[in-house]
Amino acid sequence: MTSQVMNGNGKAFHDSDVGKPPEPNFAMTTLQTVLDFILFISVSIGYILQDLYYMALGYPEKDLKNDIALVTGGGSGIGRLLATRLSKMGTKVVIWDINQQGINETVDIVQSTGGYCKGYVVDISKKEDVYKAADQVRRDVGDVTLLINNAGVVSGRLLLDTPDHLIERSFNVNVMAHFWTTKAFLPQMIENDCGHIVTIASLAGHVGISKLVDYCASKFAAVGFDEALRLELDVLGHQGVQTTCICPYFIGATGMFDDVNARWVPILKAEDVADRIIKAIKTNEKVAVIPGYIKILLSLKWVFPWGCNSQFLRRLVPDAAPHQVAPVKCAPTPTNDSTNYKINPNTDISNGIGKSAAMLVKRTPSVGERVL
Ligand SMILES: NC(=O)c1ccc[n+]([C@@H]2O[C@H](COP(=O)([O-])OP(=O)(O)OC[C@H]3O[C@@H](n4cnc5c(N)ncnc54)[C@H](O)[C@@H]3O)[C@@H](O)[C@H]2O)c1
Repeated sequence: MTSQVMNGNGKAFHDSDVGKPPEPNFAMTTLQTVLDFILFISVSIGYILQDLYYMALGYPEKDLKNDIALVTGGGSGIGRLLATRLSKMGTKVVIWDINQQGINETVDIVQSTGGYCKGYVVDISKKEDVYKAADQVRRDVGDVTLLINNAGVVSGRLLLDTPDHLIERSFNVNVMAHFWTTKAFLPQMIENDCGHIVTIASLAGHVGISKLVDYCASKFAAVGFDEALRLELDVLGHQGVQTTCICPYFIGATGMFDDVNARWVPILKAEDVADRIIKAIKTNEKVAVIPGYIKILLSLKWVFPWGCNSQFLRRLVPDAAPHQVAPVKCAPTPTNDSTNYKINPNTDISNGIGKSAAMLVKRTPSVGERVL
């Protein structure tokens, strides 16, 4: 049996109503929704006009000379090119890499041009190592104001030929590490209301490619990480902390995708990509797709049927990893015994050595661990 009392509006109130939210006032809710919509439209028009103004007159560029930048994967490729460019602008550069030789080379290159560069061997897939190294950097150099999550790996095999530990490695390096580095440096950025977190993702974070299932999935996650983090910072009102997501097409001569079989869109020059990344950082650009016209193709992805996308993508990238390691057996469970995976004797495991400009370092080929 339920008792009945009258509430303030003279409406009957039952015991069974306890815990239920009050009924919304329809007129008020509608008014709020309309006002909110008008506000949203006005603010959006403001942003569009601001963007048109900047497109016509150029985006304002910030000065990076007082920044302390941390570049993960700074021991080669894009990371090295970013380190040299930043140091030329007066930025103090810290690089993290697993490759000691690569670190030494980058530090030498930067220091030979009078720049500041300090290198640390850090395996960013291990969160304890990341937190320890972050403390060390704070003690040795200071608070990082520009974090560039650049280090990346690719397995380059069909999904069922990819051992579990390589799939885990793709996620640990390409996206999980972004959580650890960001958690290590974001609090200070928020406290100072000043900082910038850059995610080096990929176009593979927007479209799927055969033989890159783990890579694409981890890069989709990295794109999501950047977008959700940017919105969260907006919601919390931390206007001084910026985020930028970089999504390049295949880049030549860094070693990662040197043997890719792709067509129609020319392979990018690493130097051009590095210049574009610096520009995006200086202008606080939110998402930089490289080359820019690919944005139009990306938007079409949601318009056309899947069959069209599939036909286009398989023609654009006939083979992402033509010289992939041929698996002898696909073990579902990771194992330390690397003899489970044998390298095809015809496969060149020199990992791009010989193609290198000043960007590549000799990577030790390890059976079953080969990065393209
Ligand atoms: N090369 C391309 O075609 C291409 C295209 C789009 C996006 N990207 C992305 O750009 C970024 C840089 O790529 P790149 O072409 O310069 O590749 P790269 O292989 O030359 O450089 C990657 C660096 O990351 C380091 N690294 C790998 N695992 C690590 C770990 N666990 N801890 C610390 N360092 C680690 C490597 O030692 C290497 O120095 C990557 O995130 C990659 O996914 C590359």
